[in-house]
Amino acid sequence: MADPNEIRSEKYSVQRFPVVEQDDPGFSRCSTWVQAVTHGFHQDRRSPEYLAKTLDAYRLDGRELTGVYVNCGVPEHSLAADVPVGTYATMRKPLNIGFGRQLDANLVTSVTVRGTHRRNGILRGMITADLEGAKDDGLALAALTASEGSIYGRFGFGVATFERSITVDTGPRFRLRGEPSGTVEVADPAVLLEIAPKVFERVQRAAPGSIDRQEYYRLVASGSIGRDGKPDAAIRSALHYGADGTVDGYVSYRFKGWDTKPYVMEIVDLVAATNAAYLDLWRFLGSIDLIDQVIWAEAPVDDPLTWALEDPRCVDSSDIRDMLWLRILDVPAALRARGFAAAGRLVLEIADPLGLAGGTWALEADGGAAAVVDDASGEAPDLTLDIADLGSMYLGAVSPVTLAAAGRVREHTQGAAFRAQQLFAVERSAHCLTHF
Ligand SMILES: CC(C)(COP(=O)(O)OP(=O)(O)OC[C@H]1O[C@@H](n2cnc3c(N)ncnc32)[C@H](O)[C@@H]1OP(=O)(O)O)[C@@H](O)C(=O)NCCC(=O)NCCS
Repeated sequence: MADPNEIRSEKYSVQRFPVVEQDDPGFSRCSTWVQAVTHGFHQDRRSPEYLAKTLDAYRLDGRELTGVYVNCGVPEHSLAADVPVGTYATMRKPLNIGFGRQLDANLVTSVTVRGTHRRNGILRGMITADLEGAKDDGLALAALTASEGSIYGRFGFGVATFERSITVDTGPRFRLRGEPSGTVEVADPAVLLEIAPKVFERVQRAAPGSIDRQEYYRLVASGSIGRDGKPDAAIRSALHYGADGTVDGYVSYRFKGWDTKPYVMEIVDLVAATNAAYLDLWRFLGSIDLIDQVIWAEAPVDDPLTWALEDPRCVDSSDIRDMLWLRILDVPAALRARGFAAAGRLVLEIADPLGLAGGTWALEADGGAAAVVDDASGEAPDLTLDIADLGSMYLGAVSPVTLAAAGRVREHTQGAAFRAQQLFAVERSAHCLTHF
């Protein structure tokens, strides 16, 4: 595999290192690295309290940090040479790929290159070494969320799930069909430190597109960490109890203040392990007094809420955007891992700009548990596509028929794109509640 620590040019060297505990001498290298990331994303410098809590969470996630450093000296008064000019991090977590199956993915995050060093190939160097390394380690998938849509297609990533921001009118129009099937109680948000991971674990098992969460999520949902690293006193929470009395859903939320009208409640985290919990939590949110609207930035596009409301226009969604980008590193392994509910055979000719996963494969599914994937080099393909397009199709959220209409997927056999759409379908719309 490519050595992540190799010196890529005379100008730069690369260091890849794990996150260490606070009393370790390597901790300051990790703190400096986080400050460089905040610089790249135009965020405030982090306080020591924030750094301690965040790096502790990163350590528990098993994050590997990559920093790119200038080799030659830096001019007097400029940022010191131990502040990386490029940052990149990875961790490995399971992705639900449909029908309850989980496949480990290499999650890429914290990608920044300092403005004064941009377009020197630093990102390309970091990402190609990392993807090669992940493949060599036996991983079939990589994933990321992107700040801009134009960066990652060239590295073989395709948009695989979407999300949207919604504003829900919770005035008199807000009425849900049916009856509640459990109860909702307000709770001290601190209980989410323990409860949130348990509820999420059930979601992870059941929801296609779900990625296992980082440690940070329970800290934010419980109000244990706010923007400045101190506890967030504005966080409130409510729990949903199912018929058997166990907590099977929660919402963590924050009031936006009395200064502007309409009065708005913002969802910080909403996780429901059952359909009933989801709708009952919305019933609760819709019943909060003095509030005109509830907003949520991570709502599913295909949202049962819309269909449960007597007036679906209570939901205003102006902003649908790509969320999870997938990069298939090993086509046969990724296809064999998937469950295919339909039967059919497809020969896929796949191009890979990085030379990691290109080739021609025959996928044969009988509608049962497993599919057979054979090398089909020399066979006439039904579909020709880029590896990024296979990533888009993989969770069933992007239709191969649409990709063919866009000229991305080339159909050599009539109806092959529709066959692919049926084969790659999953049991419910893929949605990912984990940002990273
Ligand atoms: C995006 C960013 C990491 C790119 O780093 P970089 O080192 O300048 O990128 P590279 O020089 O390795 O460029 C690699 C390729 O991507 C292209 N590219 C890089 N950034 C791009 C962008 N924002 N939009 C479109 N293309 C981009 C380059 O043109 C180059 O193309 P080529 O190799 O096909 O000719 C850097 O601009 C940055 O830090 N931006 C702000 C933070 C951010 O958005 N991070 C991404 C978080 S998901």
